[in-house]
Amino acid sequence: MCGIFGCVLKNGDVANVIHSSLKRLEYRGYDSVGEATLDKGVLFVKKDVGKIDEVHATHDLDALPGKIGIGHTRWATHGAPTKLNAHPHTDCEDQIAVVHNGIIENFSVLKKELEDSGHVFKSRTDTEVIAHLVEQKMREGQTLRDSVLEAVKRLEGSYAIAVISAKEPDKIVCARRESPLTLGVGENGVYFASDIPAFLPLTNKAVIVENGELVVLSETEYTIWKISDLKPVIREPKTIDWTPEMAEKQGYPYFMLKEIMEQPLALRNTLRLQEHYLELMSTFLDRAGQLFLVACGTSYHACLAASYIFSKLAFHVTTPVIASEFTEQQGKSVNIDSTMLAVSQSGETADTLAAVETARQRAATIMGLTNTIGSTLTRVSRVYIGQQSGPEIGVAATKTFTAQLCVLSQLALRLAKMRGKISQDEIDFLEARVIRIPDTVETILKTQEEKIKDLAKKYKNKTCFFFLGRGISYATALEGRLKLMEIACVPAISFPAGESKHGPISLVEPGFPVIFVCAKDETRKTLIGNIMEMKARGATIIAICEEDDDEIKCLADDFIEVPKEIPEVLSPIPYIVPLQMFAFHMALERGLDPDKPRNLAKSVTVR
Ligand code: AGP
Repeated sequence: MCGIFGCVLKNGDVANVIHSSLKRLEYRGYDSVGEATLDKGVLFVKKDVGKIDEVHATHDLDALPGKIGIGHTRWATHGAPTKLNAHPHTDCEDQIAVVHNGIIENFSVLKKELEDSGHVFKSRTDTEVIAHLVEQKMREGQTLRDSVLEAVKRLEGSYAIAVISAKEPDKIVCARRESPLTLGVGENGVYFASDIPAFLPLTNKAVIVENGELVVLSETEYTIWKISDLKPVIREPKTIDWTPEMAEKQGYPYFMLKEIMEQPLALRNTLRLQEHYLELMSTFLDRAGQLFLVACGTSYHACLAASYIFSKLAFHVTTPVIASEFTEQQGKSVNIDSTMLAVSQSGETADTLAAVETARQRAATIMGLTNTIGSTLTRVSRVYIGQQSGPEIGVAATKTFTAQLCVLSQLALRLAKMRGKISQDEIDFLEARVIRIPDTVETILKTQEEKIKDLAKKYKNKTCFFFLGRGISYATALEGRLKLMEIACVPAISFPAGESKHGPISLVEPGFPVIFVCAKDETRKTLIGNIMEMKARGATIIAICEEDDDEIKCLADDFIEVPKEIPEVLSPIPYIVPLQMFAFHMALERGLDPDKPRNLAKSVTVR
């Protein structure tokens, strides 16, 4: 996601400090960069699309004057990566500048209201509304602090913001809701940043800003208040003894673990998708004759799960296809009535883009679901959705998989609504459950990690695993198996549990580990039959099941629990989490680095 940094210095120019601190936030991923400073009551801004070094080469970011300034690395969510959409954003009179990390959900309503009262917008971002809201309040005579306070009270969504104004050129006002914000207190000034690594070489004295807090920074001090009632908050700085490398991972030893653990937050961001994107895409889906869901690896598993969800909720038949097989398997059947929904975290996977090209040449409608706005997939799609998971650094896809499933489930629900295929009660129930999914995932992460660590110790020397499920849980099993193979380098086989007796069961001998994904759904009876057939041959059963599922727990040698009453169509999201964790701990037990899997690259741009 975006990175923010800024500071008020006692001595020296701020621009090169912002420049080098933004470089330390590069690991967060970004497509554009910008800085704003204040000097002698004048606001200066430089920004553009590109990497920091490229933008610096053309604009000389260090040439901005002044001791106070803010900077930003942008990872596009609302509006394409363009110079105008890059931060900082300014008000109508170029007196106020804002940087923001997060998503303002109600920005269209606010923008309309501000435009109606005469404000002129330059960008297509959600952030710009903040600059105009602050401007509005300052015009009414309020201070910068109170104007920011009033502005953030009107915002829905997530934000870490920093605002400066030429009218009060001695301070920066920051506010936080959900998105991270930290202060650094140094000898030569006070800093704010999305993450500690940004200011770590300047100071190791840090103050974490909590949700719902407002901060004013001056060259010697910081003051914190609660946004709700303006009560002052006293919080002393803590000494951080992280190495810069640990700081990038927010204290976690591996990116993969950090990304597994941040799934509740990432899912909350994904749930903030603008309603009209979902509406637009489901309208296209509704019109689709033949609908292909196309992707590779983990993203393909999301497509496979989605094929069950579309069928169960919207009675819509879809064809999930592995992208590298698309042209051979389906190429000739594509025509003007076909629609392809291509799913790709990176939006750059060569096999997926080649399948898109085949479909485009045969006049199909292309839609995309990706985590990377501005990627090739977004450019070749007629309509696309950005899943808003934030950059994923770990080679193994984790948080982006659960977010893909979250978007695809919401699309299926919209389609079901449009087509009147399931009752309003069922839709209301599922919509309420989708919103609770981040909490469900959080519970699993909090309660199951120790048990999973023990299981990894117990099973670390096994040389092969089966991952089995029926119905939608087959997709979950496939993804669990891929995680174990790619990260822990353990051979693993996955197939629908019903297929066991058609061949693979011949591999089973006493002690052979079989992981069953046991979502409570219509497949239950037959799944129990499959567990029995494995047990009869001496297999060791590891079940992922609901916490009150005593029947499965009695059959299993080991089990990992997920919260109860998870609707079948949403089950892959919580059920995959213990399997991600299992793969991670298996890798550690086997002496492997989960962030550096052998022979793999994060984005596969060759065919
Ligand atoms: C998953 O853990 C993988 N590393 C890999 O299978 C990945 O999902 C696949 O290469 C597709 O990538 P994409 O989503 O960026 O297109």
